[in-house]
Amino acid sequence: MPNIIYVEADGTRHEVEVEEQTTLMEGATMNLVPGVEGMCGGIASCATCHCYIEGEWADKLQPPQPNELAMLDTAKNRRDSSRLGCQILVSWDMEGMEVHLPEEQGSVV
Ligand code: FES
Repeated sequence: MPNIIYVEADGTRHEVEVEEQTTLMEGATMNLVPGVEGMCGGIASCATCHCYIEGEWADKLQPPQPNELAMLDTAKNRRDSSRLGCQILVSWDMEGMEVHLPEEQGSVV
């Protein structure tokens, strides 16, 4: 299984194995990574899986679809590198990927 490194806002790192074809949100919740709730179950309607994926890692991902972008527009702590973890499927080319987490999850609406 690919290793994914979730990094909390305070810098705490959690390196976990995530099954291919599960989402980054599921990988975090199944491994009890703090700060990722996935309250909507993965249908891009809560932003409690908000994360930042930067640099070359971002280039490996499919760009966000309109439903993801619409939810991100309501997310707290939005950045250019913001993604919803529930919309990203894990694959082997993500081995060692760093997924940074915001200080606070969820939507402002
Ligand atoms: S789990 Fe709700 S938006 Fe991702």
